Amino acid sequence: MTEDRLAKIVSLCRRRGFVFGGSEIYGGLSSIWDYGPLGAKLKKRIKDIWWDTYVEKREDIVGLDSSIIMHEGVFKASGHLEGFSDLLVDCPKCKKRFRLDKLEKIDKNTYECADCKEEIDIQKNKPRQFNLMLKTNMSATEDEPYYGYLRPETAQGIFVNFGNVLDATHKKLPLGIAQIGKAFRNEVTTGSFIFRMKEFEQMEIEYFVNPKNADKFYKEWVNERLKFYVDKIGIKKENLRLREHKKEELAHYAKACTDIEFKFPFGWSELEGVANRGDFDLREHTRVSKKDLSFFDDETKEKITPFVIEPSAGVDRTFFAVISDAFYEEEVKGKIRTVLKLKPELAPYRVAILPLLKNKPELVEFAKSIFCDIKDKLPCLYNDTGAIGKLYRRQDEIGTPFCVTVDVQSLDDKKVTIRDRDTMQQDRIDASRILEFIRNKKKLFRTAGG
Ligand code: GAP
Repeated sequence: MTEDRLAKIVSLCRRRGFVFGGSEIYGGLSSIWDYGPLGAKLKKRIKDIWWDTYVEKREDIVGLDSSIIMHEGVFKASGHLEGFSDLLVDCPKCKKRFRLDKLEKIDKNTYECADCKEEIDIQKNKPRQFNLMLKTNMSATEDEPYYGYLRPETAQGIFVNFGNVLDATHKKLPLGIAQIGKAFRNEVTTGSFIFRMKEFEQMEIEYFVNPKNADKFYKEWVNERLKFYVDKIGIKKENLRLREHKKEELAHYAKACTDIEFKFPFGWSELEGVANRGDFDLREHTRVSKKDLSFFDDETKEKITPFVIEPSAGVDRTFFAVISDAFYEEEVKGKIRTVLKLKPELAPYRVAILPLLKNKPELVEFAKSIFCDIKDKLPCLYNDTGAIGKLYRRQDEIGTPFCVTVDVQSLDDKKVTIRDRDTMQQDRIDASRILEFIRNKKKLFRTAGG
């Protein structure tokens, strides 16, 4: 995969209304992105699948929707106010600012500027720490400010509610608390589209376990989450890999961590982290808030501070991975066809109804009646705004698995042509059999790895 491929993906996302630059008409904001009509649908599908898999289908996991703005004490306890920072250095020649850990090291005191290739001597250009937390003034008056913090991970909302959830649900261990929501980080390394944003969304589970079972559950979650991307999201197996963190790489709270990496257009990078956070968070919140967050196990009659296994996924990175994985350019009759081979369940529309002539009222009426029948059962689109070749191209680009064309002959025989996005095969079938045809075909779709 190349940078050229990245540029093509970004262009498609913009052109077709998946992703736009944030505040674009005012010149934009770095690392802030908006999701357009189709992007909003695809993003919601990803979140719905995750929520359904873990919150609706499992008895050991409950959902939560905690606030974004949190008390300063939360981040004193979590370590984010002190430790959540990047070491940054300025290039003396081009004046650009970089994260030191992302620069090529030449020797002990010299790094290479990623932009102009100047040698940066860090004894002369001392790197400085920048905290990634975003804070907001919550006071009514400017002269007496008091600050709340925008959470940098949804996890902290889960930890501070652990006691509330136990009291309300009377659940036993192992117990997962799952949450989808926005998180904010004043990231310095920008670029790479929606890979690293200042405002992004996470899907996190904090899975509270008896410490003696932590290793077992950690391994189970790594496998479960890898399988999720393949089976539920449809990402090809060969574009995913696991990378276990070395001791020196581990975050201050983690006992172990494995990244699930995806082969993004710019190379292999983290899609999700699965960590064993030990009892760090519950202990620290107990210490700082003075509220006991331990758990009394009725069966073993012991009081424990549970360990936490945390599968932490990014919604935006999953979105990016899904689009990159599904993006194909194929040569058809000497022309390039761009197609998103999305898993059908994720596609913004499952089927498009396309009348061949829009100035023939009976034909339009018949096509619209088909559209009305289907739209309550499957996400369906009606489009008569162009020639059929152009309409097919548009649907290929947004990943619509089936296109149904209604032509003059359809008025007589009540048959339509149904075209498969991936094979481009066309079948003539009874209009009344469209849903049955799609359901039967589903098994023929590209599954992950194939
Ligand atoms: N609670 C643990 C935690 O937040 P993390 O590795 O910093 O761990 C977890 O983040 C996931 O959140 C990442 O794997 C990534 O998918 C997503 N993520 C983190 N920072 C991000 C950013 N600046 N932009 C987009 N996604 C981000």
